[in-house]
Amino acid sequence: MSAARIVVVGTGYVGLTTGASLASLGHRVTCVDVDRAKVARLAAGRVDIMEPGLAELVARGLTGGHLSFVVGAREAVRGAEAVFLCVPTPMGAGGEADLRAVESVVTEVADVLPAGCAVITKSTVPVGTARRIQSLLGRPDVPVVSNPEFLREGTAVADFLGPDRIVVGSDDPDAAHRVAGLYRQLRAPSVITDAASAELVKYAANCFLAMKLSYVNSVAELCERLGADIEAVTEGMGHDRRIGRSFLKPGPGWGGSCLPKDTSALLRVAEAARFDFGLLAAAVQENFAQRDRVIAKIAGAVGGRLAGARIGLLGLTFKAGTNDLRDSPALSVASMLSAHGADIAAYDPAVDGELPGMTVFGDAYRAARGADAVVLLTEWPEFRQLDWAYLAGQMRGDAVIDTRNLLEPRVVLDAGLSWQGIGRTRVHVLPASVS
Ligand code: UGA
Repeated sequence: MSAARIVVVGTGYVGLTTGASLASLGHRVTCVDVDRAKVARLAAGRVDIMEPGLAELVARGLTGGHLSFVVGAREAVRGAEAVFLCVPTPMGAGGEADLRAVESVVTEVADVLPAGCAVITKSTVPVGTARRIQSLLGRPDVPVVSNPEFLREGTAVADFLGPDRIVVGSDDPDAAHRVAGLYRQLRAPSVITDAASAELVKYAANCFLAMKLSYVNSVAELCERLGADIEAVTEGMGHDRRIGRSFLKPGPGWGGSCLPKDTSALLRVAEAARFDFGLLAAAVQENFAQRDRVIAKIAGAVGGRLAGARIGLLGLTFKAGTNDLRDSPALSVASMLSAHGADIAAYDPAVDGELPGMTVFGDAYRAARGADAVVLLTEWPEFRQLDWAYLAGQMRGDAVIDTRNLLEPRVVLDAGLSWQGIGRTRVHVLPASVS
């Protein structure tokens, strides 16, 4: 399809990035949402999501007439050649993916879809969903295609327009090739396969990333017990091209709207297939253990008693570069601390307003005022630029716990504070030598 008529249903992270990016490739894109107020804001060029380049892309699409926003999928899909489903697939009560939003859109548009129009799942959906949609549609003339998205929050537009690969799967190979053709300009390697394999790629990739992080966090714990330095260990591992350098940073545990939900969902899928996926279950377990270890470290730093301790938190979002708080490890740490009776003050450059169980301040120094310990939980680069001597003057105690190994320990120590990272026992003033 050269310049195709495309409908994108759902204007969250994935949907809005998909719609605006496909419009920038020259396709004519209509984005649909049920939220009338959101559609009106988007049609006026107002983007609520903090995502570099997205607002610009939306503005360009609107001005160029390639991109529009409407309410009502039934009207929008008439005349479409491809319909992307980008609606939420949250975690259901039993850890499985909740497909109600996908099913409701499919039912809504089934009888008005033009013959030959591809229905494409972009949200992460369990293996077998394409076939389920096909039977729900009851339209043998409408092919169903799985085209999972691999974008990360904070780099969504760059990831969409410069992907490592495009994965497209359908039991109708011709439809799969047509959908892959929508991305031709991106010149990315494409993997064209059956629907079930494409659906599984997404889970297999996200769960592998989660396992990699749990592995690194476990090795970091071992480093602490053995007197080794995780920063040097991961540097040494990362040079091996079979391992790679990315996704090797230890932290307070992995979170966000995808990895926790997708690991749970794949465990449920494995269970239903009567496969004991012990490796993945252990990675999930390890992620809880990592949070417990962070809490124990903080408790140790304040003399063993969290009740009544004042803790200043730096960073609340699940990672830097986003204002997304969904399933944020920082929020779990905060609620565990407050369950232990600690008094929580916090600052995050992307968060203002009230949050339960803590007081959110507009700057780091204010959050540190009177604190027994300051705990860095999100790797916002601006925390490196803080005036640590001034911050030390605000605190009651002297403990700094850097769960992202972001800070230069020497700077913190020179401010008269103590410093603990993750997986580092000795303070490594000089970077590890790797020549
Ligand atoms: C993740 C995947 O990386 C994307 O490829 C995928 O498309 C997306 O889920 C999705 O399924 O939609 P995202 O949730 O935006 O993207 O976040 P990541 O950048 O993967 O980070 C996940 C968590 O791992 C965060 O809590 C982050 O702080 C943590 N992390 C990441 C580390 O602790 N260390 C690292 O080295 C990297």
